[in-house]
Amino acid sequence: MTVHFIGAGPGAPDLITLRGRDLIAACPVCLYAGSLVPEEIVAFAPSDARVIDTAPLNLDEIMAEIETAHKQGQDVARVHSGDPSLYGAIGEQIRRLKTLGIEYTITPGVPAFAACAAALGLELTLPDVSQTVVLTRTAMKSSAMPAGEELENLGRSGATLAVHLSVRNLKKVCTDLIPHYGEDCPVAVIFRASWPDEVIIRGNLTDIRDKVRAAKLTRTALVLVGRVLDVNDFTDSRLYAPDHKHVLRHGH
Ligand SMILES: C[S@@+](CC[C@H](N)C(=O)[O-])C[C@H]1O[C@@H](n2cnc3c(N)ncnc32)[C@H](O)[C@@H]1O
Repeated sequence: MTVHFIGAGPGAPDLITLRGRDLIAACPVCLYAGSLVPEEIVAFAPSDARVIDTAPLNLDEIMAEIETAHKQGQDVARVHSGDPSLYGAIGEQIRRLKTLGIEYTITPGVPAFAACAAALGLELTLPDVSQTVVLTRTAMKSSAMPAGEELENLGRSGATLAVHLSVRNLKKVCTDLIPHYGEDCPVAVIFRASWPDEVIIRGNLTDIRDKVRAAKLTRTALVLVGRVLDVNDFTDSRLYAPDHKHVLRHGH
């Protein structure tokens, strides 16, 4: 018996991997994070599968479902939004599986930040502008940020920032970042990227909060910050430069 952690992708049902889809179809038990995993993906489960939305369950209750499946020798598809390695709370499940001696696998998924970049039609890493993307969050009522990972500290890098779980904390995001990025630094807030009701709000560190508040959108949004969001003046990458020779391109 194996627990398969599966990334469902950002929302559009056709953004799950083939492997993830096939695993869901093969498992007699499907536990999914209800708020962010679409019905169409859960529908890949066999018609007689035990399908449970884990949003109302606590960790003990989720583990009880897994242990029941284990006793019955039934594989479990444990479906998380985006990629399970990011803010998926799979670490604590894995720790308990190891204690119980239960096997597991992880199937990656398209993370929200990639779906948001696609929705914006942008590359997040541009030569001379930014070559680093920081995937982070801010703390409100949830787990505190470890020392050194506060936004005002990460902002010193000037890197492109993908700030998760923070659309209701925009005042702090902007206050912490203005000293490093400037008031006019572009910001994009993307709600439910790749879902049918996707919304993109663009602004800068001074006006984005009012724009988001006016739109009355408060959940499932990513905040992208950085000059890469609105720049045309960057040098071409060396990758395709005519005089750049490498093992696959020997030049003329
Ligand atoms: C619990 S985290 C899950 C992240 C996910 N594992 C991933 O790989 O992107 C939820 C947060 O991810 C972001 N998020 C997830 N899906 C999104 C989407 N479709 N559009 C925009 N942001 C999304 C939001 O910041 C949301 O508050």
